[in-house]
Amino acid sequence: MSTVLLGATRLLAEAHVPNPDLDSAALLAHAWGIEASDLARRRLFGESVPAGVTEIFVELLDLRRQRVPLQHITGVAAFRHLELKVGPGVFVPRPETELLVTEVLDELERQRNAHEPFVVDLCSGSGAITLSLATEHPKLSIVGVERETEALNWSLKNLTAVNLGDSTVELISGDATTFADDRPDLWGLADVVVTNPPYVPDEAVPRDPEVREHDPAAALYGGFTGLEIPALIMRQAEKLLRPGGFFIMEHSEEQGPHACELIMKTASLRQAATYPDYTGRDRYTVAHRVTEVDL
Ligand SMILES: C[S@@+](CC[C@H](N)C(=O)[O-])C[C@H]1O[C@@H](n2cnc3c(N)ncnc32)[C@H](O)[C@@H]1O
Repeated sequence: MSTVLLGATRLLAEAHVPNPDLDSAALLAHAWGIEASDLARRRLFGESVPAGVTEIFVELLDLRRQRVPLQHITGVAAFRHLELKVGPGVFVPRPETELLVTEVLDELERQRNAHEPFVVDLCSGSGAITLSLATEHPKLSIVGVERETEALNWSLKNLTAVNLGDSTVELISGDATTFADDRPDLWGLADVVVTNPPYVPDEAVPRDPEVREHDPAAALYGGFTGLEIPALIMRQAEKLLRPGGFFIMEHSEEQGPHACELIMKTASLRQAATYPDYTGRDRYTVAHRVTEVDL
């Protein structure tokens, strides 16, 4: 098996696939229908790859060499403790977004609400943030808002596969840039609004083919500076938040100062602060809704 994996790693490296060794192992495990840990064990014992598995593996490798995302080939993306179904039409959730979930859970702990927390996830995509929060918090109510039908359908599939415990989830077809205006019944109710919006500047076409050719454009591009759509979303978020409520938004490593500036231009979001991801790059900005303000 080691020779097969070494050959596959070389092929993927020649196609400039990042992490070719990890992807080879993941694809072989997928072709074999086994877990990565089982593959590692079989490799340790020098087991050979059955002919039928090799045939499938070669086909999968070929797709990966064409830079089809690993997660589209295996059909799943790992996000925190979830395995989300993904494919064409939905943004593949990224590891750095996992931090936003940690921040929201920490904030809800700090808030110590007497009531069941109510959270809104604007631009919910595959449901990564919505479903993680719903399954990791003992009891909350969360609404995910997604405009693109294909993405929403992936999230609905993911919803059926998780155990929500005492939490409740609603995945809504809606436009995050007008959501509060469309739903005045939700004004001032949210303890937290979280969003991982499209934030790539329109002209900054990503270099990696996996992103450029396979993540939906609607999930990537946020306007001329990348923050035009996020700025509209902030204005919806402040309407949804209760006084003292918490806003958190992902962005690119260069966008922290601009995101803080946009927050300070809203009527009611203040105490803006930007934090880094696991690699030390600025990744998300938080703020609180102040009390006593007319929106
Ligand atoms: C960067 S992806 C994030 C998806 C998911 N929250 C995650 O973290 O993996 C942005 C998502 O926003 C959706 N989207 C873009 N514009 C939107 C809008 N105006 N209203 C609602 N959703 C929108 C895209 O379809 C995409 O699913």
